Parts: sequence; structure tokens; C-alpha cells
Amino acid sequence: MDKLVIEGGRPLRGTLTVSGSKNTALPLMAAALLADGTTTIDNVPNLRDVNTFSDVLRVSGAEVEFDADAHVMTIDASTIDTPVAPYELVKKMRASFYMLGALLGRCGKGRVSLPGGCAWGPRPVNLHLEGMRAFGAEIELDEGYVVAHAPGGRLPGGTFTLEPSSVGATINLALAASTAQGTSRIENAAIEPDVVVFLEALQRMGAQIDGIGTRTVEIEGVDGLQPIAVTNCPDRIELGTFMIAAAIAGEPNDTIRIENANPDHLGRAFLDKFAATGTHFVTGADHVEVSAPDVLEPVSIETAVFPGFPTDLQAQWSVLLSQSPGAATITDTIYDDRFSHIPELARMGLQASVDGNTVTVEGHTHLKGATVMSTDLRASVSLVLAGMVAEGQTDVLRVYHLDRGYERLEVKLQNAGIQIHREQYDEFATPDVLKDD
Ligand code: UD1
Repeated sequence: MDKLVIEGGRPLRGTLTVSGSKNTALPLMAAALLADGTTTIDNVPNLRDVNTFSDVLRVSGAEVEFDADAHVMTIDASTIDTPVAPYELVKKMRASFYMLGALLGRCGKGRVSLPGGCAWGPRPVNLHLEGMRAFGAEIELDEGYVVAHAPGGRLPGGTFTLEPSSVGATINLALAASTAQGTSRIENAAIEPDVVVFLEALQRMGAQIDGIGTRTVEIEGVDGLQPIAVTNCPDRIELGTFMIAAAIAGEPNDTIRIENANPDHLGRAFLDKFAATGTHFVTGADHVEVSAPDVLEPVSIETAVFPGFPTDLQAQWSVLLSQSPGAATITDTIYDDRFSHIPELARMGLQASVDGNTVTVEGHTHLKGATVMSTDLRASVSLVLAGMVAEGQTDVLRVYHLDRGYERLEVKLQNAGIQIHREQYDEFATPDVLKDD
């Protein structure tokens, strides 16, 4: 397995470049299945999740080619013949469940494994299933698989209200509805930028969609969709992560430039809270410049749907809070037990207590390097951030979690002055103290 080894205390300097969005690339790939031809997507990040989903697409019969250096993917979906998404792949990545909507939309049927649990809670898919049923799908469960049929080959369409609003369910339902026979309406639809960029791509493919970016999305089914060439948007969570990195590890009076970014996609809440920490930043159309303050103000946050504070940035925020002089809280209203990084950060000296869906972080913490373990994607990057500001060496184990969502993070950070490298290690090796001399 791989680990990241970080020698803390080096300032972050210069320029960081944001990769394409993981959470938008995956729905765009699913959308490509709806077209009878070859779709080209550029700015696709070379990530483990993207490669896993490519394999999921290949199982269905699609031909997927990915030029990882150029970040260009082509998907020829004219060859789809196996409407199945197997457990072996779906268990690796929940977004594979988008195959349900894509296969129903393209083939009128699908056999898709249920994703199961997740490191931080049950993460249900009930809304996806209830929504598909409301649009006319017949659904049963068979040996851990969802088996779905559109009667007569195409869904009749219908109306479904998402409660709570869900990114994943909005995307899945839109995939299923685009080629339905009738009209479908999604109420309380998600308005996250990932969803908007995806729906706009579907529209360019020929889908008839009204209300993109609003809470009511109406889709009038069409006979089929055309392949397109589409550019994926920058990753908003990587941008937010880099802004936090600059605030805690940059030097006051220095400016760190973050390129290939779309700051509008972060949402108002994050930008306002970030400004309230006293960090100076300037946003441009495709970049952000950040200067660390002398003192980081402790700022409490609560996650919420867009344009609220993203749940995917709360783990990183806990490291920022540790470096400010007072206590503040983080409340996750989207996922109420997404705090597996806290006990790991505690091994580095973080003082924090968890009560329900709220964690209180005591500020003014002198973090010290330690061996810590990644437990999920955003937790792992918070450990890397902590390692950057800690005294001494931090080893972040199991970085395969990080590799799901951050492209060549250690190379980007090395180029910006951080002493970090990747090493292989044996998870089951005998500890040195037990070895004979
Ligand atoms: C969520 C985030 C998304 C983030 C992703 C990965 C929100 C609104 N969404 O998306 O930005 O990138 O995590 O970390 O912040 N729910 C149900 N039943 C369902 C589906 C969802 O009850 O069938 C609930 C979830 O438990 C959650 C809420 O709805 O409380 C939002 O879910 P959803 O947006 O679908 O979550 P993800 O797609 O995982």
C-alpha cells in the first residue's frame, strides 16, 4: 500500500492548479451512455473513481478510452449490450449507482448492485428508488441487486419530490427521465454546480429540460440523445481545500495563486466564512489568490445544500480551526457522523469533542507529526493538511482513499514548497520493536 510522508512546517508558496471535478466527471460519463455514438469529455481528472467508473461503463458494453495525460475521455455507447452494474465495482464507488438511471434511460432496464454502507454512515438510496418508481419503473430487489424495468421499454414519467434534496438522486432521476415517453418533474431538485453542469450537458445532447439551477426541474422525454463534446468543470472541493491549505500553511504577506478554478462553484457560504477567518483573497473568473493572515479568526460553520457550506469541506475546516486562537464548532447537517478524521487528528494533538453532528475544535493547537490513517476521501486530505502545519514527520497511511478524489496531490504540493512524498509500505509488517536485532 502507499502512504504519504510529510515533513511539516514548510510554507506553501507559488501556484497550485485545480484538476477537473470528480463529482461532475462521473455524471457526465453516465450521461454519455444515453447517446448512440461517441461522447468526448475533456478536463477529466485521472483518479481512482474515474477509472473504476470507466470499468463499470465497460461492463455494460461501452467502449471507454482515457488519455490520462491529456485528461480526455471518449465513450462510445453505441455498443451497449449488457445492462448490468456488478457488486464488485459498485461496492468500490457509490456513484456507480448512476448506472440505474443511465441503463433505464438507454436500455429500458437495468440490474444494478445496491451500494451498501460507507465509512461514515448508511448513505441511503431510497430516494433514487422511490423516484424511479414515481416515474413508472418497476423495481424489485434480487440478491443485493436492484432490478428495474420500464414497462414497454420506456418510462411513462411522473412527479417526485426529493426530501431531503439530494445531488445523487437528482442526477439519477434526470438520467432516467431524459428518454422517457412522457414528462417528469423533480421537485426540491439539487442545485449544486455538479448537477447544473451535468443537466446543461444533457440539454446539449438533446434532452428537453426546464428549470436547470432551480428547485423544480421538468424533463420532457425525447426519443434519443446525441453524443457531444463537453468540457468538465474544475473541482470546487479541491479549490476549497487549496484555499484552506493557503490560509494555514502560507506565509503572511505572500500570495498563493490557485489556477484553473471556478470560485463561483464554491457557493456563498464558504467564501463568506473563509473571509471571516481574516484570510485575504481575491477571486477572478478562473483563479483565486490567497494570502494567509497573521491570525486566523475562529469561525463556526454548518454544512448545508448549495450555496451552503459544502459537507466535503468540513473535515479540512477542522484543521483550519486548530490553528486559530479560539474554539469554534462544525455542524454537519448533511451527514451527521462524518467525523472519522477527528480521532486521527487527535493523535496529532487536536483537541476536539464530538457531540451528535457537531464537533467543537479548540484552537491554538500545536500539532505534532504522527502516523495516522485515512478513513475516507475528505478525512485523508485533512490529515495531509494537518501534516503540513505539524512539527515533525507525519505518515498518512492508506492513501488509496485520497487517490479516489485528489489527482497527484503530493506532486502539486511539492511544486508549491511542501516536503511530501509517496512511499510504499507493508500494512501487516512486524513492528520494529518486535524484530530481532
Ligand atoms: C453529498 C453532497 C455532495 C457531496 C457528496 C460526497 C450535499 C447535498 N450533497 O452528495 O455535495 O459531493 O455527498 O461527499 O451536500 N439521502 C437520502 N436518500 C437518498 C439519497 C440521499 O436520504 O436516496 C439523504 C442523504 O443521506 C443526505 C442527503 O440526502 O443526508 C443528501 O444526499 P445526496 O446529496 O444524495 O448525497 P450525495 O450524493 O452523497
